[in-house]
Amino acid sequence: MAAAVLGSRAWWLLLLLLLMAAGRPLAASNPNFLIIMADDLGIGDLGCYGNSTLSTPNIDRLAREGVRLTQHLAAAPLCTPSRAAFLTGRHAFRSGMDAVGGGYRALQWNAGSGGLPPNETTFAQVLKERGYATGIIGKWHLGVSCETRDDHCHHPLRHGFESFYGLPFTLLGDCDPAGPPELDRGLRARGLGAVWVLGLAAAALALLGVRGRPPLGWELPAVLGGLLLGAWVCTFGLVRRWNCVVMRDHGVAGQPLDLPTLTPALGAEARSFLHRHRSRPFLLFLALPHVHLPLVTAGPFLGSSQHGRYGDSVQEMDGLVGDVLNALDANGLTNTTFTYFTSDHGGFLEARDEHGRLGGWNGIYRGGKGMGGWEGGIRVPGIVRWPGQLEAGLVIHEPTSLMDVFPTLVELGGGRVPQDRVMDGHSLLPLLKGEVQHSAHEFMFHYCGDLLHAARWHERESGLVWKMHLMTPRFQPEGSDGCHDSGLCPCSGPGVAVHSPPLLFELTSDPSEARALGPGSEPRFQAVLARLARAVEAHRATVTPAPAQFSLINILWRPWLQPCCGTFPFCGCSQDGQTDGAPEPRP
Ligand SMILES: *[C@@H]1O[C@H](CO)[C@@H](O)[C@H](O)[C@H]1NC(C)=O
Ligand SMILES: *[C@@H]1O[C@H](CO)[C@@H](O)[C@H](O)[C@H]1NC(C)=O
Ligand SMILES: *[C@@H]1O[C@H](CO)[C@@H](O)[C@H](O)[C@H]1NC(C)=O
Repeated sequence: MAAAVLGSRAWWLLLLLLLMAAGRPLAASNPNFLIIMADDLGIGDLGCYGNSTLSTPNIDRLAREGVRLTQHLAAAPLCTPSRAAFLTGRHAFRSGMDAVGGGYRALQWNAGSGGLPPNETTFAQVLKERGYATGIIGKWHLGVSCETRDDHCHHPLRHGFESFYGLPFTLLGDCDPAGPPELDRGLRARGLGAVWVLGLAAAALALLGVRGRPPLGWELPAVLGGLLLGAWVCTFGLVRRWNCVVMRDHGVAGQPLDLPTLTPALGAEARSFLHRHRSRPFLLFLALPHVHLPLVTAGPFLGSSQHGRYGDSVQEMDGLVGDVLNALDANGLTNTTFTYFTSDHGGFLEARDEHGRLGGWNGIYRGGKGMGGWEGGIRVPGIVRWPGQLEAGLVIHEPTSLMDVFPTLVELGGGRVPQDRVMDGHSLLPLLKGEVQHSAHEFMFHYCGDLLHAARWHERESGLVWKMHLMTPRFQPEGSDGCHDSGLCPCSGPGVAVHSPPLLFELTSDPSEARALGPGSEPRFQAVLARLARAVEAHRATVTPAPAQFSLINILWRPWLQPCCGTFPFCGCSQDGQTDGAPEPRP
């Protein structure tokens, strides 16, 4: 026998190798994780970040009982890339999950083929392999399938989550039957025009042409059917059915999704998850659809705030967070759970209707959603609570990133950060526990799509935070706070000003980026820019191109990828799959 020839030394080595391969078993010191991410929430919308006119008692409580980060930065100013970077701990362009040049900046359809590539590793994947029960409730927006309707190559269940309930896509205007359509506004008008032209052409051909061969075989019904379907789609629109979908795991559970019952359904799912997994380590990623447009608030929070529908939505979100925190308490999980709250990026300044603002408030920070460089687009709330382990009420002003959550969770869960790729996050634990004074981020790089718009230098000796802008969007109308004429600021092209020399700000004395420095006002102007330029050069050496997930061909809607219950293309079922009919109210 081969084993007989192994000496006792070799046996020990073999045993050791086996133990290492199996990993350490989960211990009591491995906490649960409750990760909450809001959508489009501004840092200035929360009481604990200085808002005195909105009421967010539950999130404020989290901050009081935990640590509050004041310079917590999203990796991108838009949903899809920010979430990709958050889940993978690396900039979105490293996985191809950001715009290339002036192209698309986020996934547009459930039935496109782009999405988070299967070879990327999320923190959920690492924790699942460590034995955690992993679930995501809420918004995904990182793609569904690649080649066939059910391959689900980008789906949460392919990325480390064992259960999923929520939106594979995002909320959008089209999801509100009473609101104005968003994605298909132009599409429908142009489509209806095309249907008319084609219809007339077909009629003319039938009357005049193809002599001796009346088009009465299969052609007539096919052409007529196609035109009728086209007219139907363009008149009533199918975007709501195609994009506004709720899934449970691999199945479609509501199509189109029912907005008024969405918030209570998400709360019930979260409470049920916590109860089911109360005796085993879990990761719950609660990716809230709030406070993205359309602002859907139902029940007690309707009209509850003095800031209109937007304020109502913030307060409803806080209520949902409160429900989930209470469920932690009720299951005796509060002290064993590492709870985190953030937003995917800053508030949406251009969102408004005739009654006023419909987007978030970024406090003293300039800019907002869609802007990669200005602080308002990327500086977001960051709250961490772990009672008994992290000091309650601590406030940390050091620069930190949403990409830091990956290594933090992996370290606490006893897993390993992937070693075969560039990672951009650093564990927050030394900082949160007060073991170090400075965050591991000396430099940070702020992207808009795949273009570097700005870079930040936290100068350790002086404590100053320098920020250099290579490009900034041109606000229109000029002198306003955003790109109101076009609805969202671009990353490149004529809507962007390129600065040479770059704009330089010092954020500890000028957090609003109001006073650009020059050689006259700052004697170290040239030296600081030179240091930042060297850091940018070193950073750029780490960037290698990845297949673009948002290329036109990947973005396009294709019928064979459409998640659909019932009959395609009409696709319809109410909560949890009963085909069509009115949605069942939840108890
Ligand atoms: C609180 O948030 C609302 C809604 O975004 C905003 O309009 C208001 O200005 C904020 N108030 C303060 C005091 O920051
Ligand atoms: C939870 O932790 C807090 C803070 O350390 C402590 O005061 C409290 O007694 C703990 N609760 C339980 C149930 O252990
Ligand atoms: C995933 O595959 C793509 C395409 O082959 C490659 O460019 C990329 O580097 C891979 N990513 C990782 C993390 O291995």
